[in-house]
Amino acid sequence: MRIDIITLLPELMESPLDHSILKRAREKGLLEVQLHNLRDYTPYKHGQVDDYQYGGGAGMVMMAEPLVRCIESLQKEHRYDEIIYMTPDGQRLQQQMANQLSLKKELLIIAGHYKGIDERVREHFVSMEISIGDYVLSGGELPALVLTDAIGRLLPGVLGDETSALTDSFQDGILSPPVYTRPAEFRGWKVPDVLLSGNFPAIEAWREEEALKRTRERRPDLLDEG
Ligand code: ADE
Repeated sequence: MRIDIITLLPELMESPLDHSILKRAREKGLLEVQLHNLRDYTPYKHGQVDDYQYGGGAGMVMMAEPLVRCIESLQKEHRYDEIIYMTPDGQRLQQQMANQLSLKKELLIIAGHYKGIDERVREHFVSMEISIGDYVLSGGELPALVLTDAIGRLLPGVLGDETSALTDSFQDGILSPPVYTRPAEFRGWKVPDVLLSGNFPAIEAWREEEALKRTRERRPDLLDEG
């Protein structure tokens, strides 16, 4: 899969792409991520990419022209399955959405800044608008990285243990059960006996029960919707 990201802050985005799972995915050639600096596409003087909003009001708006130039120049080389704009008024990111996006071949993500991007770009180019939660961040860079990570780790071959993405919280609509590792006793606190029993059906049953209990306690909404 290939993901192109349009941003004003490519340096901000480099490190998370260059560590851990995303780094490995890129090194293995399973995920290609290219960052594009919007300033390289502006026809305006001094690298201007934003301006005051019509009608007045606080906050600058990202201008249509640099964005459209950048998008159209990328579209000459790529046929994007989706052009995604990260915005707090978008559709809330859920595991199911990440699963579906992980099946695509080429995605373009726009990380906005300031007050947002000129509405005409949203109307004429953007095919999906995604929010990572009901709070406002100072830019779309962190949300674009969140989305890239959520998608990248699902690509076949990225995670060492092929099953581990499938057993994540949310994958089957509920939270994950508690997990433990060595030692079996720490400061007098013991790992539940069943996990040490070697009785795999019993372990499976325990995990299911604990996952349901945790979901009931913390996220009853997940059970209501299912
Ligand atoms: N840009 C600023 N805040 C955001 C959010 N919560 N989700 C997506 N993009 C954003």
